Amino acid sequence: MARPSPYRRGHFAPVREEVTAFDLPVTGTIPEDLDGRYLRNGPNPLGIEHPRFHYYLGAGMIHGVRLAGGRAEWYRNRWVRQAPVSRALREPRRTYGVLGGMDAASNINVIGYAGKVLSLAEGGTLPFELSNELDTIGPCDFGGGLRGAMSAHPKIDPMTGDLHSIGYFAGSPTADYTVVSATGGVVRSESIDLPHAPMMHDFALTPSYLVIMDLPVLFDVLAALAGDPFPFRWNPRAVARLGLLRRVGAHEQPRWFEIEPVWIYHTVNAHDTSSGVVVDVVTHPSMFRGRASDIGGQGTPSLERFAIDTRTGSVARRLLDDRPQEFPRVDDRVLGRVHRFAYTASAAAFVDAWRPRELDTMADGEFDNVLYKHDLLGGRTQRRSFARDAAVGEAIFVPRRGGTDAEDDGYLLSYVHAPERGASDLVILAADDFEGEELARVHLPSRVPLGLHGNWIPAENTSEAHETEEYSCR
Ligand SMILES: [Fe+2]
Repeated sequence: MARPSPYRRGHFAPVREEVTAFDLPVTGTIPEDLDGRYLRNGPNPLGIEHPRFHYYLGAGMIHGVRLAGGRAEWYRNRWVRQAPVSRALREPRRTYGVLGGMDAASNINVIGYAGKVLSLAEGGTLPFELSNELDTIGPCDFGGGLRGAMSAHPKIDPMTGDLHSIGYFAGSPTADYTVVSATGGVVRSESIDLPHAPMMHDFALTPSYLVIMDLPVLFDVLAALAGDPFPFRWNPRAVARLGLLRRVGAHEQPRWFEIEPVWIYHTVNAHDTSSGVVVDVVTHPSMFRGRASDIGGQGTPSLERFAIDTRTGSVARRLLDDRPQEFPRVDDRVLGRVHRFAYTASAAAFVDAWRPRELDTMADGEFDNVLYKHDLLGGRTQRRSFARDAAVGEAIFVPRRGGTDAEDDGYLLSYVHAPERGASDLVILAADDFEGEELARVHLPSRVPLGLHGNWIPAENTSEAHETEEYSCR
C-alpha cells in the first residue's frame, strides 16, 4: 500500500473531531485589550479527497479562539461546510451554487470584512460566510456582484477600507480584479489577460498599483486530462514577470516587467516610490517541478525585495534574508506603505515534508519552530525559538488598543504545538519584546495541525457590533 502523503502525517496529520471548549486554562496573562477572535484556516483531510492527494485539496478547517476581558472564552474547530463535507459528515445536504462548478476546498485563509467572517479558497471557489461561532452560513458572492473568482489573499486598503481581490479559475486565461466596498458591495470588476493560465496565489497593493505575478507555475492541460486533481506544473520555458495594474483611471491591462524565473506564494507588502514600486516577497527557486504531490519547492524560500523601475522597465532584486521562511506578515495598518517590520515563520517542514528523514538531522533553526522579526529599516533580524516539535505557523500582528502606530506596538498570535500535552497552545507575544517572556499561552484541548493563514477579527468587526447590514452575501 502506498505511503500516505507526508502532508497527512506528523504535524500535518488531521484532527478527527470538532471540539468546543469554554474558559480555557491560561499560563501568563492575556492582555485585556485583546477583544476578538483569532481564526486560522488550513487543510484537514476528511477522507473525501481525491485518491491522488495534494495538500491543497484537504477539506478546510477553521480553528478559532475567542479572547475578551483577559479570558480565553472558547476554542472551536469547524470544517467549512461545503457540500462534500456535509455529505461526509452525514448532515443534511446543502446544495450551494458554486461558480463554474468549482468546489475546491475552502482551506487557505479566513478574514473578517465589514462584519462578516469569510473562509477563502484558491482557484475559483466562492468565499464561504461563517458565523461568529464558525458555523457555515453559505457561499458569498456579494449579492451577485462577484462575477469571477476571489483571491485567497485579498487586501483591505487601510486608507479606503475597500477589499481588493485578484481571483482566477484554475486553467482560465484571465483573472478577475474585484473591488468590494464595505458599504456598497462590488464596485469594480475587471478582467486581466493571463494567456498562460498561471497559478497566482497572492498579489500586493499600493495606493497607485496592484502588483501581480505571472510566474512559471502554469495550468498543465495534459496533467488535467490525465486526471491529476492539482494540474499545475513548473514550466522551465515560461517567462516570469511582475505586472503593475493601475488602480485609478480607465481599465487597462497591466504593464509587465520580466524577471528571472522564480516562484512566489506570498508578498510581504509593497509601496510606491518616485521611480516605480518596491515589493517584498518570499521567493522559492522553483515550485511543482516534476511532482504534483508536494507543496514545497526546490531550494530555500527566502525573503527578497524587488524594485520595479517604471522609467527604465528594469527590476532590481535584492536578498534580504536567506534563512528558510514563509508566511510573511506585517502590521496591516501599513499595507501599501513603507513597512519597517516583517514577521515570518521558518517553514522547513512544509518544504521538506516529502524528505522526512532529513528532518532528524536538520539544524534546530531550520525546523518549524522559529519565528523571525525583521527590522528592514534597521537591518536587523530577531529570532525566537520554540520547542523542537512546536510546529509554529504564521504569526499575525494585532495592534495594541490605544497604542501608537509603531508596527510592533501590539501582539503576535500563533498556534504552537505543545508535544508534552499532545495538544496545541495559542501563544501571545509582545511584538516589541520579541525575544522576551511570552505574555500568555492559552492551552487548547486538542492539536491544531500545521496549517495556512489566519487573522484577528476584533469584536467591533463582527456582526454583533455591525447593527446595519452593509453588504449582502447573497
Ligand atoms: Fe497563502
